[in-house]
Amino acid sequence: MDVKGKAAVITGGASGIGRATAELLARKGASVVIADLVEERGAETVKAIEAAGGHAAFIKADVTDEDDSRRMLELAVKRFGGLDILYNNAGIAIGLPGYPLAEVKRWRRVLEIDLQAVILGCHLAAPLMDPKGGVIINTASMAGLYPYKEDPVYGAAKAGVVNFTYSLAPWAAKRNIRVNCVCPGVVDTPLVRRGLEAAKRAGHTAGIPAKILQPIQIAEAVLNLIENDNLFGRALEVRPTGSRLVETPEAPGTRRKS
Ligand SMILES: NC(=O)c1ccc[n+]([C@@H]2O[C@H](COP(=O)([O-])OP(=O)(O)OC[C@H]3O[C@@H](n4cnc5c(N)ncnc54)[C@H](O)[C@@H]3O)[C@@H](O)[C@H]2O)c1
Repeated sequence: MDVKGKAAVITGGASGIGRATAELLARKGASVVIADLVEERGAETVKAIEAAGGHAAFIKADVTDEDDSRRMLELAVKRFGGLDILYNNAGIAIGLPGYPLAEVKRWRRVLEIDLQAVILGCHLAAPLMDPKGGVIINTASMAGLYPYKEDPVYGAAKAGVVNFTYSLAPWAAKRNIRVNCVCPGVVDTPLVRRGLEAAKRAGHTAGIPAKILQPIQIAEAVLNLIENDNLFGRALEVRPTGSRLVETPEAPGTRRKS
């Protein structure tokens, strides 16, 4: 899909990876709805996009709330004439203390935002997308592809996003919707900086890794996923050393379709 002239909704679009993607899509000619909890940073992002000649709107929305999520998607239709692209990107990590010491409500919140809201977003977006075609990208993580001992609940949520993407693809494709996910390694964003600060305060010594991705690299990977019309239900792993499409596993006894 060529993003020029298309309408996109980006959750968690006021910071980090979401903001970089909102700015990139707007530079490429898409109109962008930025949905986030943080109004000030959302307004700032809209201002930056408009100052560069792009089109954007902000809506304060909690992606775990059904009404908020419906309103953010409908805003794209009302303001920009349709819903062509949904980027389910909002996410949090568990922070400290980690699982199992964290309170139950904390790790449930990780599952609600990082996994259930992705499922909710797809559920609500599909009927609003043009029957001629739409694209949904979900932000998973390398933590969803490999064991992640630092934050097992986050790892489980992101693994859920990867499998949900694989498993939803045939249903979505019948409605001309391509659903794919991006699995970044460590990216230099406020989420990671906050985590490292908290770890430092707790006496851990981990610093910024020597090889770290920049948000624009993930934004470019997301743009590639949107533009490549051949990809259905694929996970794209992005490391500082390069990207690869993850080999999609097939259930035993099923025949691989091309
Ligand atoms: N930074 C990394 O190293 C990294 C690596 C892999 C995957 N990811 C994933 O990338 C995504 C973006 O992370 P980031 O690093 O840019 O973080 P970030 O903290 O910079 O941005 C996340 C944004 O999501 C918003 N958000 C959080 N909960 C929300 C909710 N309930 N409703 C609406 N918005 C909400 C936040 O306000 C924030 O603006 C997340 O899903 C994260 O898990 C990040």
